[in-house]
Amino acid sequence: MAQKITQPRGTADILPSEIPAWEQLETTAKTLLKAYGYREMRTPFFEEMALFKRSLGETTEVVNKQLLEVLSQRKDAAADNDGGLALRPEGTAPIVRAYNQHDLGRNEFISKLFYIGPMFRGERPQKGRLRMFHQIGAEAIGRGANHPLLDAEMIALAVSMIKSFGINDFKLKINSLGSTEDKANFALWLRQELKGKIDHLSDDVKAQYERNVFRLLDSKDQGCREVINSLQIGTKHLSEKGRVYFEKVKEGLDQLGVAYEVSSHLVRGLDYYTHTVFEISYAGLGAQDAIGAGGRYNGLVEHLGGGDRRFPETVGAIGFALGMERLLLALEAEGKSRVAGRSMDVFVVAAKAEYETAAFALVHALRVLGVSADMDFGGGRSFKKQFEQADKLGAGQVWILGDEEIRNNTVSMKDMRTGTQITEQRTTESIARLAKAFHR
Ligand code: HAM
Repeated sequence: MAQKITQPRGTADILPSEIPAWEQLETTAKTLLKAYGYREMRTPFFEEMALFKRSLGETTEVVNKQLLEVLSQRKDAAADNDGGLALRPEGTAPIVRAYNQHDLGRNEFISKLFYIGPMFRGERPQKGRLRMFHQIGAEAIGRGANHPLLDAEMIALAVSMIKSFGINDFKLKINSLGSTEDKANFALWLRQELKGKIDHLSDDVKAQYERNVFRLLDSKDQGCREVINSLQIGTKHLSEKGRVYFEKVKEGLDQLGVAYEVSSHLVRGLDYYTHTVFEISYAGLGAQDAIGAGGRYNGLVEHLGGGDRRFPETVGAIGFALGMERLLLALEAEGKSRVAGRSMDVFVVAAKAEYETAAFALVHALRVLGVSADMDFGGGRSFKKQFEQADKLGAGQVWILGDEEIRNNTVSMKDMRTGTQITEQRTTESIARLAKAFHR
């Protein structure tokens, strides 16, 4: 036998039996997002590599190690200059790129956008960490997206979404990085504090100190964690304005009854963040316990060439993304992963191979009338086998075409739940009338 080909490492097939759980996440999320005023936007699965380098940061892990390059046939000069194309590792940068490109800020004071789809990162696969995974994301962008209550609303939206999926045992951590200047001061302070304290640590840690000192705050290196834990970080890097902003965000969360913990070590792995950052974790998931995360990214619109000269204020922006595979793992941990699939309305059984043509016509007539229906293409398999097939599909009714039914132009209908059976005419009018019952 020829060798089987399996899916690439770090990707997963989503089988038909798993689809109802995915659909439930998608429909619940969409209903809630629409209630909060968000509209869907769909962007390409790949973008210019330069977009991610410029927005997420050249020194971040995602850009440095995880961008999956698309080998294109492009021979034009642009391909040499900008490093070509990459599969999107996240949704924020593409949304901002599209926001700018289509000048959404021209007519909209605030644009509330959402997306659901696959993201790609060349990470080392493990439980809850894939190379192709799916996110549900929301982004609020615009001159009208500069209010601290919007930060509270965004976090509350993420939390209610997780709750409405049926996940309860999660933890929300928040922090503030302050404005761009506050962030620069924070980096300076950190470098000063860590000077001389990390010389005995690994080359990786030292390289991060040089390249992006914030990365050390959530370092997995044991020695580095000990040094970091000994620092009194708090909120002293925040300017008065930044501090007041963060206080207002917290007040908003209190007002909405959202429980949170302030964690001064939370910085997040992408460079675009300013002010509020947050992460939602689910303890039962082990090492990859973040089920969602987000934050504010004021200034990214301008950094990617957008903004409007007529308005001096920065375009505000905040958003979050939840990882769908991890949400499903969390639901599994809570014992709620089983979602019943939509079952079939009617399975038509033909008693003999020569009755299959009549069954075929009946199935087609039902489908046209909006009733889900199927039959066995088994060339007259036994009644038992066909009933087993109907059972597997979860058919509500089995419609039987036996000798008598074919002779009298009738059909016998068996209700699979109650076991009762009745016989009806097999005319166009009578089928139309019977089909209506399925739409009640
Ligand atoms: P992120 O923290 O990189 O943020 O990803 C958000 C969520 O996606 C994570 O909390 C996790 O649940 C899921 N995730 C990330 N990487 C993987 C992976 N390799 N395998 C499975 N799940 C994964 C962002 O992507 C930002 N764009 C969020 C954001 C939106 N910030 C502002 N707006």
